[in-house]
Amino acid sequence: MTLRPLTADDVDALVALDAATNPQPWSAALWRDALTRDHGTGLVDGEGRLAGFTVSSRVLDEAELQSIAVAPGLQRRGFGLALLNALLAELRRDGVARLLLEVRAGNTGAQALYAACGGEIVGRRNGYYDHGREDALLYTFVLAGGGS
Ligand SMILES: CC(C)(COP(=O)(O)OP(=O)(O)OC[C@H]1O[C@@H](n2cnc3c(N)ncnc32)[C@H](O)[C@@H]1OP(=O)(O)O)[C@@H](O)C(=O)NCCC(=O)NCCS
Repeated sequence: MTLRPLTADDVDALVALDAATNPQPWSAALWRDALTRDHGTGLVDGEGRLAGFTVSSRVLDEAELQSIAVAPGLQRRGFGLALLNALLAELRRDGVARLLLEVRAGNTGAQALYAACGGEIVGRRNGYYDHGREDALLYTFVLAGGGS
């Protein structure tokens, strides 16, 4: 598996992977938009197939993780950790102070990953998902060298 930047050529694979892992998947148009505006990293196997991704945006000294996923058949093998650690390392290198993200309160698997990478819960948005049915937890990762 290797990491490489996502490009417009990845849209079809992203739509498929997102649909397989996200209860509210993005449309192809949203993916195209995200790839022009945000920063995407793909995890690809030896045959060039997309096995995972992160998409993040930056504003001044803060970054936000918009999306992270690993293909269902490849989960719990350390790839999510590799993707998130690669993003955190890149943000630290660029002097970004914080990474923020929102996660469903019921998504305990992703929360375990965030805790393993040093993420801390800093807030809760009641009824943020599914028309009020599920809360969002806000996580922050304070990045060394980037201030508080
Ligand atoms: C969240 C996600 C990206 C994690 O990817 P992954 O490759 O399975 O994660 P890893 O194998 O790197 O896990 C690293 C650690 O995180 C924790 N973890 C990850 N998934 C977990 C799960 N389902 N249950 C409990 N702990 C979990 C564990 O501590 C794990 O270490 P371990 O396997 O040695 O116990 C993946 O489950 C996924 O794509 N989920 C669907 C999309 C999603 O929920 N994205 C987050 C939206 S905010």
